[in-house]
Parts: sequence; C-alpha cells; structure tokens
Amino acid sequence: MTSVRPSVELVSTGRSLPDRVLTNKDLEGMVETSDEWIRERTGIRERRIAAEGTLTADLGATAAEIALSRAEVPPEEVDILLLSTATPDRWLPSTSCDIQSKVGATNAFASDLHAACSGFLYNLSLAEAYLAMGRGEVALVIGAEVMSSIIDWEDRATCVLFGDGAGAAVLRRSDTGRGILANDFGSDGTLADLLCRPAGGVQAPLDKERLIQKDHLVHMSGREIFKAAVRAMADSSARALEKAGLTPDDVDLMVPHQANIRILEATARYAGIPMEKVYVNLDRYGNMSSATIPVALDECLEQGLIKPGSVVLSAAFGAGLTWGATVFQF
Ligand code: UT7
Repeated sequence: MTSVRPSVELVSTGRSLPDRVLTNKDLEGMVETSDEWIRERTGIRERRIAAEGTLTADLGATAAEIALSRAEVPPEEVDILLLSTATPDRWLPSTSCDIQSKVGATNAFASDLHAACSGFLYNLSLAEAYLAMGRGEVALVIGAEVMSSIIDWEDRATCVLFGDGAGAAVLRRSDTGRGILANDFGSDGTLADLLCRPAGGVQAPLDKERLIQKDHLVHMSGREIFKAAVRAMADSSARALEKAGLTPDDVDLMVPHQANIRILEATARYAGIPMEKVYVNLDRYGNMSSATIPVALDECLEQGLIKPGSVVLSAAFGAGLTWGATVFQF
C-alpha cells in the first residue's frame, strides 16, 4: 500500500474535559444570539468551560496521566514532553514544565509549541522526528487549552465558538510498520491579523487603554478564516495522502480539527472523503484549539471507530495562519 516505512506509533491517548457545560441557551442570556443561529452556522450545541482556578496544566496533566496509564508507561520513562497551547498558564516558564512536574515525568525534556489549532499535529511531527532520530524511546504529546480565559464574553462572533479541554497521546518508536505514515504542514504569517490577540506581548504591551479596548482577547475575522481553512485543510490532506502513497478512498476515518461543521463538510467534500467517514464532536465541545484532535482521537479509539490497521487522516487549521495534515495507520 505504501513505500514509506513508518517508525513512530501512537500507542495510547487520554482526554480531560471540564465538568461545566455551557449551552447555546446559556449564551442566549449573555449575548445577542440564538441556539438556532449557533447550531446552523457552526454545528455547536454546547461546550465545556473550566472552573475558575483550573489551569491549562491541570487539564493537560490529567489527559497525560490517562494516556500514560493506558500505555502502561511510568512517567519516569517519558523522554520527550511536548505541549501545544494558545493559553499558557504563565508567559515564563513554559506550561509543559508545569505538566512535567505534575505528572512526574522527571527524565523528560519539556517544551511548549504555539501553532494555535494546528499545534497538536505540529508537535506529533516533532515527536516523530525526535524519536526517529533516537533522541528517546517515548514521547508524550499534549494539546491543552483554557480558551475561555482569552475570549471576550461580550463578543458574540467569537464567544459562541470556543471551549476548554485537553487531550494527550503517547508515541513510541516502532518496527510494526504502522504509525505516522506522512505529514504535510504550512504557515502564512502574512495573514496573522485574521486571528490574534493584539495586545499583551512585546508589540503592544498591556496598558489601561488596551485593556479597556479588550485588545488582550481574541479578535477574529471569521469569514476570511473560514475560506482559508477549507482550502488549506483540503490541500494539505491531499498532499499528506499523496506522500503516504494513498488516495482518499484508502482513508477509513478522518479526524479533523473541530472548528465549524460547515468547514468540516466543505473540507471533506474538497478532500474527497464522505461525511460518514468524518468524526464530529464539535457539537459537544466547540473549538478547543489544539486539544480538538487528541480529544477526538481518544473518543474514536474508545468507541472502536479506529481499529488495528485503520488508516486515519487528521487535518488542522488555525491562527498564524498555520495548517497541516497527518496520515496514520493504527
Ligand atoms: O480554528 C480556527 C478558528 N476560527 C474559526 O474556525 C472560525 C471560522 N469561521 C466561522 O466559523 C464562521 O465565519 C463564523 C461562525 C465565525 C461566522 O459565520 P458566518 O456564516 O461566516 O457569519 P458572518 O461572520 O458572515 O456573520 C453573519 C451575520 C452577521 O450579521 P449581519 O452583518 O449579516 O447583520 C453577524 O453579525 O451573523 C451575525 N452574527 C451572529 N448572529 C447571531 C455573528 N455571530 C453571531 C452570533 N449570533 N453568535
């Protein structure tokens, strides 16, 4: 089926979702919106919101511990710990170091990567490269987000879209012939302003005026992002499949980044994958940025939708702009 020799396998996953559910009905009482508008334009019905005081590292560590225990890997055996997040708990040090401390991955090196919603796939590829180069035997890759902390809860165009959560995966070098078959990635920094938090960094340090303007929160040009997302995810999926020597017909399941049901439907159509093969959970969680793909993979594995031998295609898109696609064989 493919001439590419995979060397890195995804052996287990875990997820952590806050208990609190925020429904579309709840949002109707917060901003001028309706359950009907949100469902029709996005496919989202509800999302999870972290309790006050719950950190990105808390959600990430819980997901990581579940993935490690399913893989029967003691935390000290983790060599590489990679977190993707757009909501670090502090600017310094990295939140991955907090997760390392919480899970007791004392022998790992840890780092954060920020590629917004594409971060989990970017990190899987980094882990794959580190493991393939012999930098370790076991990698722990985590996507964890408390998006509710960076959302303007008075902006109906963004606050209905996002949710909190975390997912994690354990990767190992393998000689089974299964694993990550191919990747494709891209970025376009010329479109950075389409989705950003304008203030709070070096470019625009936080001051009273910027706080009042809410420039420290997410600003988004939804329609432009929508168009770019479909094109980028479909093209990246096609390139990743081609690199793996596969066609859309070979895909058993597509597990894409969950941003908007209309983005998923259009991407699947352009990518030549029927919607029956596309896993959707955004109705329950909304867009959890880099946590969407590991949470979805975890649910698919739990429900038996991914079986030994299944070919799975994941594609993501996010701020940056960043995008990517990964083909796995389980
Ligand atoms: O992971 C990447 C992160 N970002 C994304 O994935 C976002 C991608 N974009 C989208 O998902 C869609 O563009 C949105 C869901 C954000 C918006 O859907 P749309 O069909 O592109 O709507 P629109 O922005 O063109 O707005 C249509 C109308 C506007 O009213 P007018 O100007 O036509 O009177 C908006 O003000 O809908 C209005 N609107 C809302 N109405 C009720 C925008 N948000 C809401 C809302 N409730 N929550």
